[in-house]
Formats: sequence, C-alpha cells, structure tokens
Amino acid sequence: MSVHGPAAPNAVASLAGPAAQRAPGRGQLAAAAARDVASRGVAARRATVRPWTDRGGRFSPFKAAVFTLLFAPALWLAASWWLDALGARPVKALILGAGLWACRLVLLSLLISPARVLAAWPGVLAVRRMVGVAAALYAGTHLVLYAVQENWHLGHVALEIVRRFYLTIGFVALCGLVALAASSTNEAMRRMGRNWKRLHRLAYPLAGLALFHFFLQSKADVGQAVLYAGVFVWAMLWRALPAGRNRSLAVLPLLALAACAATAALEYAWYALATHIPPARVLGAELALDFGPHPAGQVLMFGLVATLAVALRRMALREPRPAALDPVLYAGAAVAALALVWTLSLGGDALPDAPASWVVALAWVGLGVLLGTARAGLRGTWQARAADGVWLLCLLYPLYTAGLDSRTLGLAGDAAIALAALALALTSWRVWRPAAVLALPLLGWVGYVARLTVG
Ligand code: HEM
Repeated sequence: MSVHGPAAPNAVASLAGPAAQRAPGRGQLAAAAARDVASRGVAARRATVRPWTDRGGRFSPFKAAVFTLLFAPALWLAASWWLDALGARPVKALILGAGLWACRLVLLSLLISPARVLAAWPGVLAVRRMVGVAAALYAGTHLVLYAVQENWHLGHVALEIVRRFYLTIGFVALCGLVALAASSTNEAMRRMGRNWKRLHRLAYPLAGLALFHFFLQSKADVGQAVLYAGVFVWAMLWRALPAGRNRSLAVLPLLALAACAATAALEYAWYALATHIPPARVLGAELALDFGPHPAGQVLMFGLVATLAVALRRMALREPRPAALDPVLYAGAAVAALALVWTLSLGGDALPDAPASWVVALAWVGLGVLLGTARAGLRGTWQARAADGVWLLCLLYPLYTAGLDSRTLGLAGDAAIALAALALALTSWRVWRPAAVLALPLLGWVGYVARLTVG
C-alpha cells in the first residue's frame, strides 16, 4: 500500500505544520495554477506522456496499474456476457453495469483531490485524467448499449431522451462528461489557460446530475444511489472547507458525521417526496441496523475509513519512523480494508462453516501485527518491501474475491498469498530468522480458508 511508500519531499513539507502550510492567497493560487498549466505544457512538449509513463516519459507502475484496473469492469462484464452469466436480460444487465461503473468512476475522480491533499500524495494527480476519461467512456458505452436494447432505432432513442426526464438528465450528464474528457489533453489545457480550471469545476455538478439520474431510475430501492450520494456529499463538504482546514485530520471525523446525517436526511426526503413508502420506517430500519448495512451507516464508515487511512499515511511518512509503528500500520491497514469491504457491501455470500465475521477480522488484524513485526526486523532490506507486497496482496484479497463472489478467484488469491508468504519466509531466514517464523501463520490461515472454499 502507498501507506508504506517513501516520503516525497513536498509530501513531508505539507505535513510540516501550520507555518509551512499557511494558506496561500488567491493571487498566489492563480499564479501557481498558471505555472502548473504552463509546466504541464512544457512537459508535454518534452516527452510523450502515455497512460503508463510519467511526465518525464519513464514507466510508472502506479499509472500502469490504474490504467489496467480501469479495463477490469469492462472485461468482467464482457466475460459474463460471453459466458451467458447475465441472466434473462443480458443487454439490460450490461446497461446497468456500464452505468454503475460510470457513476463509480465519476465519484472516484472527485476523491482524487482530497486524497492528494489529505494523504500528502501529489503523485495521485497523475491518474485523475485517466479516471475521468474512463468514466466518460463507460457512460458512452452505457448509451450505446441502450441503443442496442432499442434495436438501433436511433430516432426512438432520441425521442425517449427528450420525453423521459431521467434520460434527459442522463444525457446532459453524459454530454458534460464527454466535454470534460475531450478537453483534458495537455494541448487543451495550454490553449484554455485559466478557463480550463473553470470548465473542469463542472465535474461536481455533472456528478450531481449523474446521481440524480441514478436516483430517478432506481424506483423503490434507492439504497445504492443514496450511498453514492453520501460519498458525493462527503467530497463536497471537504471541498467547502477553508484552505487551512482541508488538511486537518481532526476535522475528518466531523466530516464523516456530517455526511452521515446528510445521507439520512436525503434518504428520508427521497422516500417522503418521491415514493409511497413511509420514510420513518426506512430510517427506523437504518437505526436498528436491520438487514445489514444501510447507506447512512456506510457513509459514516466511509468517512471513518478515510480518517484512519489518512492517520496511517501520516504515521508512515514520519521521518525517521520508529520500528514499533510497522505492526501498527499493518494492523491498521487491515482494519481499514475490512471496514471498506463492509462499507461497499462487498461481503459476498458467507461460505458454509465459515467462522463468524469478527473471528475473521481478528485473524487478519493478528496476522497484520505478526507480519508488521517481521517487517520491522527486516528494515533496510528488500525483504521489507516484499513484506509490503505480501500484505497488499492480503488486503486486496477480500476486494477481488468476495467482491466478485468468485470461488476460482478466491482460490487463485489463496495460492498467490501462500506462495508469496513462503518466498518471504525462505528469503528472510538468512536475514532475520524470527521474520520467517512470523510470516508462516499466513500460510496456515490461507490454507484453512482455501479448504473452506473448496468445501
Ligand atoms: C444519454 C444518456 C443516458 C441514457 C440514455 C441512459 C439510460 C439509462 C437506462 C435506460 C437505465 C436503466 C433504467 C432501467 O432500469 O430501466 C440507466 C440506468 C443507470 N444509468 Fe444511465 N443513461 C444515460 C447516462 C448516464 C450517465 C452519464 C451515467 C453516469 C455517469 C449513468 C448512470 C446510470 C446508473 C448508475 C444507472 C443505474 C444502474 C443500476 O441500477 O444498477 N447514466 N440509464
């Protein structure tokens, strides 16, 4: 995880305290923006920037990984269609899948600025354009699939867009997203100067429109639309913070609470105004936590995960970092990943005979403490980096297996973690023997989970 990455010099500066981060004035900001735009133009002339290279033309593993991951939902949908796994109405399922991913990517693109500022992570900006363009492409595919569903009767499609309010809203959002994607080139940035920033501020209202389209077509169950709207509100509230406050860790729990309250209010208002379902009953179920997680609680959890992730990142950036922090960082990252799985409702169906979820959570946190302790003893060696890689694989595991509910991927993940942990144990034997012993419980746990998966 980037949490364990080395500190970039400007990242450390931005955490250095109030004196170092006094809020710049409007003039300074404008000048900085102009310099930024100009430097991007110069860099663009210097080297051809590809989705997998940085501005200097060097290969960037982070950009390459994000670029590859952006194709994953499309490949997953295409494979499901190919394997006839989309149910009775495959085209409809594809429309919904493409629309959902367009919405998720629009939200993700809005979370990049908070990640850059809060986590002192300037490098994340390099993928914002890619994510925005991908959102527009998924939204465009969503429209094309709608035309497929209507048997390419384009006149009818156009008429429906004009006649049906939710489609008109979707169309406006799509036009805006395409305009932003088309004007995201270095050349457009250079030509438009300050107007470029003004135009790209439209990303927020466009995300609002996309969410409104999502609400309008959701009919009785707006749960997922409310969840995404809550995340959108969180991003808007963060953006509304004064410049001096938008780096503050202390403000994040308050932001989480405010976004949670706004989500509950939004849900109440939606059920009261747009449906015949009694809103008080829905909110009652929220408070009683009936039937699993509810949007307001999920948004609260999202805000708290963001708080924890920022706190961990700041610990990781401490120079010099005490060795005792390594197990804390590993265990904290496990807590954040588990909370994220719950927040995004990625639990999947529980396996028969699986232990209770609190046992699973305790096991992962315990393994994090063990591997983090091993990492502390391996400091300064390449095996410490390898331990980071093994732990990252473990943290992503629930996302790529439970999230996709795939037994094959689950077993492949188990095998990858077991092999990586074994390699770490063997190679660290000569460097620091206890590390080898501390890495071994991971093998036992994934072996046990694999046995459950096979049944
Ligand atoms: C011309 C533009 C658009 C058209 C014609 C269109 C059409 C549709 C249609 C027909 C549905 C399915 C409704 C049903 O259940 O019957 C839908 C759902 C949806 N659309 Fe769009 N849409 C457009 C633009 C957008 C954009 C720009 C976004 C997001 C960035 C978006 C996101 C969604 C989402 C999230 C859903 C619901 C998915 C779900 O329920 O799982 N749409 N849209």
